[in-house]
Amino acid sequence: MSANLDRLGRPLRNLRISVTDRCNLRCAYCMPEEEYTWLPRADILSFEETAQLVEAFTQVGVERVRLTGGEPLMRRDLPVLVRLLAQHGSIRDLALTTNGILLAENARVLKDAGLSRVTVSLDTLQPDRFRALTRREGHEKVLAGVEAAASVGFKNTKIDTVVIRGTNDDELVALIEWGKRFDLEVRFIEYMDVGGATRWSMRDVVTRTEMLATLTEAYGPITPVASDPSAPADRFLLSDGTVFGIIASTTAPFCSACDRSRLTADGHWFKCLYATKGTDLRTPLRSGASVEDLAHTIAGGWRLRDDRGAEKRLEALNRTALADSVALRSNPHLEMHTRGG
Ligand code: GTP
Ligand code: 5AD
Ligand code: SF4
Repeated sequence: MSANLDRLGRPLRNLRISVTDRCNLRCAYCMPEEEYTWLPRADILSFEETAQLVEAFTQVGVERVRLTGGEPLMRRDLPVLVRLLAQHGSIRDLALTTNGILLAENARVLKDAGLSRVTVSLDTLQPDRFRALTRREGHEKVLAGVEAAASVGFKNTKIDTVVIRGTNDDELVALIEWGKRFDLEVRFIEYMDVGGATRWSMRDVVTRTEMLATLTEAYGPITPVASDPSAPADRFLLSDGTVFGIIASTTAPFCSACDRSRLTADGHWFKCLYATKGTDLRTPLRSGASVEDLAHTIAGGWRLRDDRGAEKRLEALNRTALADSVALRSNPHLEMHTRGG
C-alpha cells in the first residue's frame, strides 16, 4: 500500500498497544483516584485478535510497535504476544513501556521472545518518595528490573521520569548520574494534562526551559542533538558525552509530525492521545471482518485524521485537567492507563 497520509500530511508509522488497563501502581499523575472502571474481561482482545489487528495496521504503514498499559507485564503470558509480533516482517522495532515491578522476573523470557527494547518508568531514586508517589511498595523491584534488563542484554534502555514541581524536581541530576552507571538514557517528561491526570495543574508542570536551566547550572553547557521530529523526546548532550532527553509535550508539542496511533486492550483505536472518540475495531473483527477489511477501515480513518490534541490544549485559556473523575468513570477509554501511557 502506498503512503497513506492524514489531513495534515502525516503518515501512520507507530502503534502503541495497551495490552491491559490494569496496573500494580497508582502514580499520582496517572491513577490518583481510589476507584476505577475496568474494561470488561470479555472485551479484552486475545493475542490472536491483537495480532490480526496489528497485521491490518502494518498494511497501512505501521512499522514500530510499543506494548504498554496499564502495566503490560500484568497481562498473563505477555511474552507469547511478543513472540507473535516479533516474527512479523514489517515490524522493525518492538518495544515495551513498563513500570519495572515485574521486569526482573520477565526480562530473560522477553528477550528470548524477541523484544527489541524496554523503557522503564521511574520518577524517583528515593524509596519513600516512590511509596508516596505510587501508593505502592516495590522501588527495589524496579531497580532490580533495570539491572536485569541490562544483564540479559537489552540495549538502548530508556528511563521515563515525569517531573512534578515540589515532588521530584530536585532529582534531575541524581537520575542522570544514576543512569550513567547503567548506560541508560533518562528522559524527563513534562507533566501532561491527559485523561487520568485529574489533579493536573499548570503550576505543577516543570517546563523544558526550567529543566534545562537546572541542568545547565549543574553540568555547564548542554548541546542539543539532532532528533527524529516524530519522536516526542528532544535529546541533549552533556560535555562528558552523556545523552538525556526531554519530552515537552505540554509546552512544546510535536503534533505536526505525529505518526502515532493507539489501540486499547479492548480493540478501540485512538488517533490521538487526547482524542475523546475512538473507533471500535473489536466488533468488526469479532463479526468476521478480514484483515484486508480492517486495513481498509484503518486507512480510511487515518486519511480523515486532523488531530493535534496537545497543540489544541496549548491554545486553551485557563488550562485545567482534561476530564474529571466522573467523566473518566463513565468513559474509561479517556484514561491514559486505558489508551496507553
Ligand atoms: P521511543 O522513541 O520509541 O523510545 O518511544 P517514545 O519516545 O514514544 O517514548 P515512550 O513510549 O516512552 O513515551 C514517553 C512519553 O512521551 C509518554 O509517556 C508521553 O508522556 C509522551 N508521549 C508518548 N506518546 C505521545 C503522543 O502520542 N502524544 C503526546 N503528546 N505525547 C506522547
Ligand atoms: N504526564 C506525563 N506522562 C504521563 N504518563 C502517564 N500519565 C502522564 C502524565 N499525566 C506516562 C509516563 C509514564 C507512562 C507509563 O505514561 O511516561 O512513565
Ligand atoms: Fe500526536 Fe495527538 Fe500527541 Fe499531538 S497530542 S502528538 S497529535 S497523539
